[in-house]
Amino acid sequence: MDRILIRGGKPLNGVIHVRGAKNAVLPLMAAALMAEAPCILHNVPCLHDVFSMDKLLSDMGMKIDFTGRTMTLDPGGLNKPEAEYDLVRRMRASFFVLGPLLARFGKARVSLPGGCAIGSRPVDIHLKSLEAIGAKIRIEDGYVVAEGPLQGANVSLDFPSVGATENLLMAACMTPGVTRIANVAREPEIEDLARFLNALGAQISGAGTDLITIVGVDALGGAEHVVMPDRIEAGTFLAAGVATRGDVTVLNANADHLPVFLDKLREMGATVEVHGSRIRAHAANGLRGVNITTLPYPGFATDLQAQIMAAVTCAEGVSIIKETVFENRFMQLAQLNRMGADIGLDGNAAIVRGVKAISGAPVMASDLRASAALVIAGLAASRGETAISRVYHIDRGYERIEERLAGVGADIERVRT
Ligand code: EPZ
Repeated sequence: MDRILIRGGKPLNGVIHVRGAKNAVLPLMAAALMAEAPCILHNVPCLHDVFSMDKLLSDMGMKIDFTGRTMTLDPGGLNKPEAEYDLVRRMRASFFVLGPLLARFGKARVSLPGGCAIGSRPVDIHLKSLEAIGAKIRIEDGYVVAEGPLQGANVSLDFPSVGATENLLMAACMTPGVTRIANVAREPEIEDLARFLNALGAQISGAGTDLITIVGVDALGGAEHVVMPDRIEAGTFLAAGVATRGDVTVLNANADHLPVFLDKLREMGATVEVHGSRIRAHAANGLRGVNITTLPYPGFATDLQAQIMAAVTCAEGVSIIKETVFENRFMQLAQLNRMGADIGLDGNAAIVRGVKAISGAPVMASDLRASAALVIAGLAASRGETAISRVYHIDRGYERIEERLAGVGADIERVRT
């Protein structure tokens, strides 16, 4: 199992290229299940989660060629509308194949995803919304078995779930009639998916707002699409820059996707400049504490909560960080305290009292974004070495993170054990 070793205390300075968005490319790959002709995706990140989705779709008969950052998906040989437990349990996003399979084949058998470190992560909203457009669904031996026919309808989600929105959006594309989805997720990844589906021949309007309308079509062709930049990766590297009192610029980013996050960096005392697809953040004079509440988009992204917590461990004053999207997303808290942070918990709020300095320590990654927080804390530690184990969590969502951080001055290496 690899470990990442970090010797902190060095301000990061330089430029980092942001890759394609993990949380966009995974549903985009699933959407290719509905295409009648080959699809080409550009700017695809080389991530473990992408390889997992590749394996899942290939198991269904999809022919995939992934070279460099371009992925070609040929649905010509699709023959198995099923997603096996062993593949789904590794990655919850596998569940996003349910809607496309149901739309394409009129039936689907998809393993229920297990919970994970950040919560039980049920799929009740996914199932209820698919039933609202006519799907007959039963749970059998740990699998969701779904059958059509489907019929357009008005659906309102109990919560703007990203995954449930994506499953329903894809299923509705090939459902006869008109489907309107209210209280729908508004994340940029939903807009990216809608752009791709419309390029395939779907008729979707309203993506990015809280009401999406879909007019069903009989079939979808093929299309070429450039995956949007990863806003969470951009935010992660900017948080690392300010946490080390450095000066980091991310390229190929979209500042419009980080409205609240960039304002919070400014509130913390960082200078943030946006020039087109370049975002620069620097904080030579240290940081102030800040209050944050995570919310569905366009609120503060839950996927950036752990990273900001790491960044404010040595800020002046107290920060109150409320997590409202997931029930257990403070896995980084105990590990940060092991490094000398002073963080208390009050229900769903973390109280971070700024300390003068934190120091390196052996820590364990638990989930993707908590792991990113440990990297940031290791970089910000004024002395000692941070050894992060179970780094496969990091590799799920960040491509070669140690090389890219070393490129802006971090003393960081990956050791294979
Ligand atoms: C997506 O997960 C992202 N993953 C997550 O990113 C992200 O944290 C999350 O959206 C919120 O923005 C991908 O896009 C692959 P949800 P998803 O359904 O769709 C509850 C990362 O680090 N819920 O919006 O699973 C759920 O338990 C990952 O990149 C139900 O109760 O998130 C959670 O508390 C982590 N019933 C809340 O809603 C349901 O049927 C938000 O979940 C569905 C969800």
